[in-house]
Amino acid sequence: MSYFNQPIFIGNLEVKNRVFLAPLAGVSDVPFRRICQEYGAGLTYVEMLSANAINYRSHRTLQMMRRHPSESILGVQLTGPSAELVAQAAEFLDKQGFDTIDINMGCPVKKIVNNASGSAILKDPQRVWQTVKAVKAVSSRPISAKIRLGFTREGINVLKNSQQVAEAQAAMLTIHGRTRSENYSHPVDYDNLAKGLKTAKEKISIVTVGNGNVFEHISANKMRAETNCDAIMVSRGALGNPWIFQEILEQRRVEPTLEEWLDVVLRHLSYQKEHYEIKKVAVGLMKKLLVWYAKGFPSCKYLRDQVKSISSLEEAEEIFRSYAAKLPSDLPRHFFHDEEERELRQNYDPKYEMDRKLDRGVGDDCLQK
Ligand SMILES: Cc1cc2nc3c(=O)[nH]c(=O)nc-3n(C[C@H](O)[C@H](O)[C@H](O)COP(=O)(O)O)c2cc1C
Repeated sequence: MSYFNQPIFIGNLEVKNRVFLAPLAGVSDVPFRRICQEYGAGLTYVEMLSANAINYRSHRTLQMMRRHPSESILGVQLTGPSAELVAQAAEFLDKQGFDTIDINMGCPVKKIVNNASGSAILKDPQRVWQTVKAVKAVSSRPISAKIRLGFTREGINVLKNSQQVAEAQAAMLTIHGRTRSENYSHPVDYDNLAKGLKTAKEKISIVTVGNGNVFEHISANKMRAETNCDAIMVSRGALGNPWIFQEILEQRRVEPTLEEWLDVVLRHLSYQKEHYEIKKVAVGLMKKLLVWYAKGFPSCKYLRDQVKSISSLEEAEEIFRSYAAKLPSDLPRHFFHDEEERELRQNYDPKYEMDRKLDRGVGDDCLQK
C-alpha cells in the first residue's frame, strides 16, 4: 500500500487516504466532487464560501452547500473579514453537518482581499490565531486553516502564521507554497513550505498538508519528500483529470483509454443534469470542465473549439460521442507526457478559461449584503 493510501485522522475524523481535493471556487461542486471521489479523493471540499453570504443566508450560497447522498465525508471552507463574522458563519456550517471546516487564509482575489478576507488575514498573525480560536469555540468539528507563505515574498511570515494556527489548536494546516503576490509561473517554494509545516508540528499533533503543483504521482512524491507533509491537496491537477487520485494512490501513471475517458465525461454530464435545475447555470459551469477534459487525444483543439459554443448538455454529449467514434476506443490518453508540457501545466492559470461571473465562491454576489 502506498504512503498516500493510508488512513489518517484529522482530529476525530477518520479519512480513508491522504490525497485530498482542494476547495475550488467555481469548480468543486457536487458533480465535480462525485467524479473525484469515485477516483479515490479521500477528502473533498465545497468551494470557498463567504462568511458574509452565509450570515445573510444568500440563496446562492445555500445552494452551493448542497451535498449528494453518496458523499459520506465532506468538508467546507469559508473566509470572512473578521474572526467574529467567520465564527458566526462557522456555527451555521457546523449545524449543516459538514465533517470538517477549513478557514481560507490564502485566496488572492482582489475583491476578497479588499474585503479583509482570504490572504489579507495572513498580514496579521494575531488575526490568524483569533480566527481559528473563534471558530473552534463554536464548532465541534475538526477545524483547519489553509494559508500561503505570506502576502509578499518580502513579507514571508509562514513560520509565525503556522505557529499561530497550531497554538489555536487547529486539527490541520495546509500550506500552498507560494505567496499571495506570486502567480502560477512562480515555482513552489518547498523549503519555506516545509519549515511552516514543521513549526506547526513542533507545537501540537496536527495534520500537515502540502499544496502546490501536484500534477501526477511524481510531483505528489516530491511534495512529500521535500516537506514531510502528512497529506497532499490537489488543485489544478484535478481539472479535467480525476484519474490523478488513482494515479497518486496506486503510484503509477494512469492514462485512461478513449473509452474510459468518454465514460467519465458522459457520467459527469449526467451528474450535472441531475444536480442543476437551471439549465443555463449547468451549461455555463460545465463548459470550462469540458474544455479541460478535451485534452490528450488527437485533434482535441477542434473538440475544444466546439465545446465553447455549446448551448445544452445534450449538445455536449453529442459532440463528445461523435468525436470519440472517430478514434480507436483503446487509444490511451496522453494528458501531458514531456517536460515542455509539464512546464506549461505548472504555469497554467485556469482563470483565463473561466467565466468570472460563474466563479461563484469568489464572485460579487457572495459578498452582497
Ligand atoms: C479554479 C481554482 C479555484 C480555486 N479556489 C480555491 C478555493 O475556493 N479555496 C482555496 O483554498 N483555494 C482555491 N484555489 C487555490 C488552490 O486550492 C491551490 O491552493 C492553488 O491552485 C495551488 O495549487 P496547485 O498549484 O496544485 O494548483 C483555487 C484554484 C483554482 C485553480
